[in-house]
Amino acid sequence: MRSNQNQKYIFICGSKDCQKNGSEQLKSALKELIKENNLKDEVRIIKTKCMDFCKSGPNLIVQDHLYHKVSSREAKAILNKLFEKPSS
Ligand code: FES
Repeated sequence: MRSNQNQKYIFICGSKDCQKNGSEQLKSALKELIKENNLKDEVRIIKTKCMDFCKSGPNLIVQDHLYHKVSSREAKAILNKLFEKPSS
């Protein structure tokens, strides 16, 4: 396995309530965008256990920010957020 120290991570809850609210579809949408944009070496999606925000899922964490009720339509915005340059 190749190691990339600049690899970014998206943590997505894979537990029951988030699954019911579309976490698998969100994960698939993110994976598809990562593939389309040749970002497989740059971004890794990690499925987590319950984050304790079950009523507001699907939940995910990107760059230390917790997002609630994320839809598949927002996958592109989430990915863009990862590569956003910090404002100076
Ligand atoms: S099931 Fe996802 S936060 Fe609990």
